[in-house]
Amino acid sequence: MYPNYLVKKFNSYLYKILADYNELPKVLNKAINYSIRNGGKRFRPVLCMLTAISLDKDYKNVLPTACAIEFIHSYSLIHDDLPSIDNDDLRRGKPTSHKIFGEDIAILAGDALFAEAFNIIIKYQDVDCDTKLKVIKEIAEASGAKGMVSGQVIDVFYTGKDLSKKKLEIMDNNKTGKLITASIKCSALICKASEDKLKKLIEFSKNLGLVFQITDDILDITANEETLGKTVGKDEILNKNTFPKIWGLEESRKIAERKVKEAIKIISKLDINTKPLIDIAKFLIDRKA
Ligand code: IPE
Ligand code: IPE
Ligand code: MG
Ligand code: MG
Ligand code: MG
Repeated sequence: MYPNYLVKKFNSYLYKILADYNELPKVLNKAINYSIRNGGKRFRPVLCMLTAISLDKDYKNVLPTACAIEFIHSYSLIHDDLPSIDNDDLRRGKPTSHKIFGEDIAILAGDALFAEAFNIIIKYQDVDCDTKLKVIKEIAEASGAKGMVSGQVIDVFYTGKDLSKKKLEIMDNNKTGKLITASIKCSALICKASEDKLKKLIEFSKNLGLVFQITDDILDITANEETLGKTVGKDEILNKNTFPKIWGLEESRKIAERKVKEAIKIISKLDINTKPLIDIAKFLIDRKA
């Protein structure tokens, strides 16, 4: 079962952070609030919090970093939906940011969220400076030129063109997987996990990251639009390279299941509270949105 109690705790922290932005130009404040308050599973913050819990630490210790990662995720969705990228009208069951505020403000709101993510860590993350720098580096790398951006570049560049299976995996690891890894790794760094635990948690997260995009691709075909909150069937219309397109739907499901099993195996032997992490890994297989 999905840890909705953590989503609630996270949201109340996030809304406090958002109050910091009340002095902004009205339209920017509205656009930021529109995208951030517009629901979503908060999967990455939940991973951050669950990692802390699994290491027997208070999830409150990692809330600023969880918030920063959700800011980056929200920025990536605003830009991903733009007419020049995926041209989507629906996000989390509501019109996309550019549909409401125009492309100019949507782009700028995304830019603001990206930079503010780092500001939040610098201002609010209570941890020694060395670790703080490691956390910032991890998030910058996961979202930057060698991370999410290069994944998105492969995505747009190869739309309508053939993409190898190997490159498909690189694309998905970059555009989606690395920020998911950062969610777990940064939390483990803040919680001072031992080298061995850190290594295994990273391996675990890499499997989860890829599975997350595989299941996103599957849901684009199989989901109920209202539950998904996004337009179903868009990947096929745009001729996107996805797991189901390249591997087929059934094989994609099998790959996702295999990777979840691998992930669970990796952390099962660790001397931590593995149950919350195992549960969230299993959630990925059954998720409907
Ligand atoms: C969708 O992310 C975009 C991908 C990286 C696949 P989510 O499925 O986490 O979106 P929300 O935050 O729950 O809306
Ligand atoms: C998005 O992948 C990955 C990002 C970095 C935002 P998708 O384009 O498949 O995400 P959705 O389906 O629009 O949420
Ligand atoms: Mg996309
Ligand atoms: Mg998209
Ligand atoms: Mg998708």
